[in-house]
Amino acid sequence: MVKIAPDLTEKEIIQISDSLICHQIDGVVATNTTLDRNLVKGLRYSEEAGGLSGRPVQLISTEIVRLLTKELKGQLPIIAAGGIDSLVAAREKLAAGGHHCYKFIPDLFITA
Ligand SMILES: Cc1cc2nc3c(=O)[nH]c(=O)nc-3n(C[C@H](O)[C@H](O)[C@H](O)COP(=O)(O)O)c2cc1C
Repeated sequence: MVKIAPDLTEKEIIQISDSLICHQIDGVVATNTTLDRNLVKGLRYSEEAGGLSGRPVQLISTEIVRLLTKELKGQLPIIAAGGIDSLVAAREKLAAGGHHCYKFIPDLFITA
């Protein structure tokens, strides 16, 4: 399995997708935490080092799942993560093409 960051361009996602297929990787986890501070700008602790999880990564990780779905065309499973804080959020990930979902804290696993 390979886990990817959400802070990637579409071009990078295309290149990564090609590599995942070429190297017969078992699956991809999308995504890890984000370094993007736009959604938390001005908030207390927003400039602390490290990746953001939860709501700030929710939309961008769904978009990455959507791009991966387009590029991978079902050739390997996509495990979606990033801001899954409700059943609706999990369903958004599945609707974007994720085959499975997980929530980092608390542990929650949902399968399509
Ligand atoms: C405190 C913390 C530690 C994490 N450690 C790891 C790690 O060791 N390896 C990893 O692949 N992802 C790690 N992650 C990323 C999560 O597994 C997950 O991909 C990311 O937080 C987005 O999901 P979430 O919004 O449900 O937390 C960590 C996240 C947090 C918040």
